[in-house]
This record gives sequence, C-alpha cells and structure tokens, in this order.
Amino acid sequence: MGAEILPSSGVSIQLVVDALRSGEVVALPTETVYGLAAIISDDVALRRIFEVKARPFVDPLIVHVLDLSSLLNLVQISDDLFNGVYRLVDAFCPGPLTFLLKKRKSVSDIITAGKKTVAVRLPAHTIFREVLRQSGPLAAPSANPFGYLSPTCAAHVSASIGDKIPYILDGGTCTIGLESTILDLTGKHFAILRPGAITAEMIEDVLGKKIVPYRPLVSADPSAPGMLKQHYSPRTRLRLFEQSPEVEIPHFQENRALKTAILYLSREEAQSRKIINEEKATVFWLSENGNLNEIAHNIFDLLQRLDNMNFDAIYCQIPQKIDIGIAINDRLIRAAAKF
Ligand code: TXA
Ligand code: MG
Repeated sequence: MGAEILPSSGVSIQLVVDALRSGEVVALPTETVYGLAAIISDDVALRRIFEVKARPFVDPLIVHVLDLSSLLNLVQISDDLFNGVYRLVDAFCPGPLTFLLKKRKSVSDIITAGKKTVAVRLPAHTIFREVLRQSGPLAAPSANPFGYLSPTCAAHVSASIGDKIPYILDGGTCTIGLESTILDLTGKHFAILRPGAITAEMIEDVLGKKIVPYRPLVSADPSAPGMLKQHYSPRTRLRLFEQSPEVEIPHFQENRALKTAILYLSREEAQSRKIINEEKATVFWLSENGNLNEIAHNIFDLLQRLDNMNFDAIYCQIPQKIDIGIAINDRLIRAAAKF
C-alpha cells in the first residue's frame, strides 16, 4: 500500500505528529523541497530515513528547528560566532539557509554521520513549522531516493518513495523549488557549501564581510557530503547547453531521429526555435520571461515530468550564473554528470 497523501489540516498535522512520535518517518513540505522527517532523538527512525532513501550512512542529515533557541540547543558556539548566527537568523530565517556548526554531544552520530559538525535550519513553510511546534526538532533530508531529482510536490514523493512511508503531508508546490543554501561557519572564513536562494552576496551584506563563495568541489567519494559529482539525476539522458543545442551538443544533428525534449529557459526563447519543433524534438520552457526564481521553482518538476514521458534524451538550457542561477547551474551540472 502506498503512502496516504494528507490534505493540510489540523487533523492531518496531528496524525503526522503522532506517527513521528511513534517512530515513523513521514514526508513534509518545506519552502525549498519536500523533506523526509524523523524525530532527532529516535535512532531507529533516523536509520529508517537512510533505508527509505537508499542513502549511504556517511551522508549526514539536516536538522530542522523552529527557532534560534532550539538551534542553540544543538550546537556549540563562541560569543563571536553567536553574533554572526544571530544576524543571519534575524535576516533570513525562517527561510532557506542552513547553518553548519560544531555539534553538541547530544546530537546523534546517525544525523551527522559521525562528524563533529551538524547542519541546522529553520524552515519557513507554515505546515512544517506547525509540525515542529508539536514534535520538536526533526532531521529531514530531501524526500527522494538518493541521487534522484528532489521532490517539489506531494506527487513527486508519492511516485518515488510512496510505497515505503505511511504519510505525505501535502503543503502544495514548494515556493522556492531548490534545496537550502548551506553555509559552513566552522572555519576561519564562512563558506558556501551548497548554493541556494540565499546567495553569498546577501550573506555578505548582512555580515559586512566577505565569505568564501561556492566552489564546486566535485568528488565521487560519498564521504565528501554534498559534493557528489552525480546527484539530482533523472533516468533519462540529460545534456546541457547555453545558447544553442545544435552548436553545443555533440551528435545533436545525428540524433534527430531520437525522441528528444528541449527545455529552454523562457517561452520566448523556445518559440523563436520553430525549426527544432519540426523535427522529432518537443520544445518546453522553464519560465515565461527567463525569471530565475521562476526557473528554480519549475526545474525539478519539469525534469521529473519529462523523465516520465519516455524521451530518449532531454536537452536543457542553463541560466546565467548570478543570484539563484548559481544554484540552478549547480543542480543541472550534477544532474547531467552521469550521462
Ligand atoms: O532545503 C533543504 O535543505 C532540504 C529540505 C528538506 O530542508 N533538505 C536537504 O537535505 O536538502 P539533504 O539531506 O538532501 O541535503 C543535505 C546536504 C547533504 O549534501 C549533506 O551531505 C549536507 O547537507 N550535510 C548535512 N550535514 C552535514 C555536515 N555535518 N557536514 C557536511 N555536510 C553536511
Ligand atoms: Mg537531497
């Protein structure tokens, strides 16, 4: 039997909180992507998260908390560092920013994969916050099988891991659509480990100092978490281009007999490409006018829909590396890495 998709209501929240308290893992909506949650003090449930996702135990989880004081219960920080964290929480939280800090002993090694650091964030979605208010802190990675595209609606979760969990709480489509920014505050200089909606510039503006921008350190080693070269991948072969698939994608011309999807950043761009339409390729677009937030919101959903349409290949245009475009680029490059 598949997971029950619960409509957002007080009754559903109660049902989900009871399930969490009895040791189940459940899928919950956040403003970034759907998460697969368990109570942080329940090691059996935490292990179950890894099982459901088929995720290696060396890849640590993010803890979700309601407020700054709950965050402080999990981490050890100096007064100096507290100042920075306080300002960032004040500016961006609840929201899509994850803090990597030195953990307290009480934080389970299953969550941190034995590391001395823990990743914590304050999610903004009202439903997730209501659950947190009743359940206490929850560990939650994205609710997708390890390595696959992240889920941005209840149907994505249902289609991929629905047979392994009891409930999916439906909170609609995730407004942002890409995972949170991860900021490492454990080193001498703060560093972005994963780009997201909160950019390095936004963080620098609040802190009044430079931080280390995102550097895509790719590795095939799963003990270098968050840096896996291949990640977020569809099953269908994915290739990327900047301006023109004809010019940039090898064998594009020869492959015209194949059933391909071409994904442009905007409707305008797609519609000015009528020649391609006459071939076997079908043209899609990620936004009306190329707005980066709209592209981020749509990217995982569109890739998942195309992945279920039996295309031989998907060709996707990549956006400029500015603002949330940096995060979109990162996800697309990893998604295409295995092909
Ligand atoms: O937006 C998000 O952050 C979503 C929603 C559900 O909150 N969560 C999410 O979790 O993206 P997950 O597990 O799919 O990605 C968390 C990333 C992983 O790459 C993991 O390796 C990294 O955070 N991470 C977690 N704890 C870490 C730690 N102690 N040191 C280094 N990396 C860590
Ligand atoms: Mg993930």
